[in-house]
Amino acid sequence: MTNPASAPPEHAEPDPAATAYRQLGGAAALRALVDRFYDLMDLEPGYAELRRLHAPSLDSARDKLNWFLSGWLGGPDLYVTRFGHPRLRARHLPFSIGIAERDQWVLCMRQAMAECQVDPALAARLDQAFASTADWMRNRPG
Ligand code: HEM
Repeated sequence: MTNPASAPPEHAEPDPAATAYRQLGGAAALRALVDRFYDLMDLEPGYAELRRLHAPSLDSARDKLNWFLSGWLGGPDLYVTRFGHPRLRARHLPFSIGIAERDQWVLCMRQAMAECQVDPALAARLDQAFASTADWMRNRPG
């Protein structure tokens, strides 16, 4: 009798999320991407509405997004280890998120990926996943 759960790892279905973390380049590359994302949010006038929703210091946001994305991309689940289930939508309810905020988040991350020279095929795949996650975070019409 074959139990798929006990198949050796090399026979497992490929895990696209795990591949994403490795393809990106692991922990240091992810931290560089997150840092560029928040640097751009701070610097670029086009992301001003998004920046305004955040605290004056972005230090804790940098750490939390880094820890979250580590697990989300298939690497070590650093966020869950520290805080438990992310409850991402609930945690965003205190912030008024409409189309402009959603789009700025996605564009800011797209720019950060381009500047960090994330492989274009991987960037396109992540862009889609970010866009649908960001859309799910909307809590205000318009
Ligand atoms: C849709 C537009 C979005 C807006 C306007 C937004 C805004 C924010 C703000 C203002 C915070 C609080 C930061 C702080 O602690 O100072 C936050 C936290 C966070 N965001 Fe977003 N966010 C968006 C989308 C996303 C997406 C797409 C992801 C993941 C892919 C994400 C992941 C996180 C995480 C992990 C935290 C930390 C949660 C916690 O533990 O408190 N956000 N976000």
